[in-house]
Amino acid sequence: VSAAGLLARLRAAVGDAHVLRGGLVAGYDTDWTGRWQGRPVAVVRPGSTNEVREVVLACAAAGVPLVPQGGNTGLVGAAAPADGEVVLSTRRLDAVGVPDPGTGTLEAGAGATLQRVQDAARAAEFEVGVDLASRGSATVGGVVATNAGGARVLRAGTTRQQVLGLEAVLADGSIVTRMSGLPKDNVGYDLVQLLTGSEGTLAVITRVLLQVTPRPPARATALVALDGVPAAVELLITLRAGVAGLDAVEFLTADGLELVVAAGRARAPFAEPAPVLVLAEAVGLDADTLVEALAEAVASVSGVRDAAVAASDADRARLWEVREAHTEVLAPLRPVKLDVAVPVPALAAFVAELSGVAAAGGGHPVLFGHLAEGNVHVNVLGVPPERELDVTDAVLRLVAAHGGSISAEHGIGRAKREWLHLGRSAADIAAMRRVKAALDPAGLLSPGRVLPDV
Ligand code: MLT
Ligand code: ZN
Repeated sequence: VSAAGLLARLRAAVGDAHVLRGGLVAGYDTDWTGRWQGRPVAVVRPGSTNEVREVVLACAAAGVPLVPQGGNTGLVGAAAPADGEVVLSTRRLDAVGVPDPGTGTLEAGAGATLQRVQDAARAAEFEVGVDLASRGSATVGGVVATNAGGARVLRAGTTRQQVLGLEAVLADGSIVTRMSGLPKDNVGYDLVQLLTGSEGTLAVITRVLLQVTPRPPARATALVALDGVPAAVELLITLRAGVAGLDAVEFLTADGLELVVAAGRARAPFAEPAPVLVLAEAVGLDADTLVEALAEAVASVSGVRDAAVAASDADRARLWEVREAHTEVLAPLRPVKLDVAVPVPALAAFVAELSGVAAAGGGHPVLFGHLAEGNVHVNVLGVPPERELDVTDAVLRLVAAHGGSISAEHGIGRAKREWLHLGRSAADIAAMRRVKAALDPAGLLSPGRVLPDV
């Protein structure tokens, strides 16, 4: 099949208006770190599951690889196209249902933004458990395809724990559907869980069924200034032990805060800068009790320099902005971005050694992330381009040496596949290859992602 033949078939499948080329592919061809950019054959925007199927079959017939893309907020090059790929944008698959109180589920098209799905849940006094800073652009299809983590994993688990079903188109055009929402449904292999976190390499997810739970009536948030990482870990342990309904424990450092303040995204929360700040949030029946519980935990930890506690939505949002603005503020500085996790007991040692590793590569680390999971977003600034790979390698080896994960929540994509062996055994990787070969023997879906070349 010629390129013209492929384009004609794609246009027939989705309509001329939804096959984008030339200048219209802007926004789809580059990820927003600016690190992953390609020249796609076209961006195709199917409007139904059957149209997705037609697009998959057209690409298969032409032997042209395709990459599914949701909100294009990924950070590891999984959804941004390489040269010569077709981008299958799910953004038109954006129907959002209403929560079903009988099953505690909410159905949404893969291309609906997380924010819209959260709003739909909230309108019926429910909530979805997954939340992340890019909620306004990230789609639920992408959230599922990456098994997104985010800031609420402590109470709700990762996306994996909240996906009760999905529909997806496989590389051969067949459509798998598990949308019953039955909490007990042990019929054979769990394809929903296999496709969750598969980063576009095994299927195109078209619909998802997410768990919803009753929305807690009250929330309270504390921002705490601390002496250093050991004090932050002590606070985490105290919060875990003493605060029922603990929902998030995040952290940032003085350097990151300074950048956020300089960018005008937040005001300095405390008169004196502190090395580490922890943001903790709890949910429950009434705000006063939560504020009290948070304050009590904070008061019992040594190394606390200052603290602010908030219960109103507006005040809480201001505290969260200090943390959530980090990614956008850091992006123009083109950091070497490495999402990793280490066991909480190893966190202080890991952070201490990280500075040396970054300095050896000519850089300086700005750290923030999800303290509760030991999930550190390592952003190394000032690394000369020719040393970026060395810094990446050194940081990921340090993570592995501390018993951590080289990808806590962002996935592997194209960015980390060469380091897969630091996180999985040879037997694991061989099994993954067999799964990929079985479901996508021609390598049609998102080639060059997750698995290293043989
Ligand atoms: C976050 O927690 O803000 C995100 O994972 C994004 C990032 O790492 O920059
Ligand atoms: Zn994160």
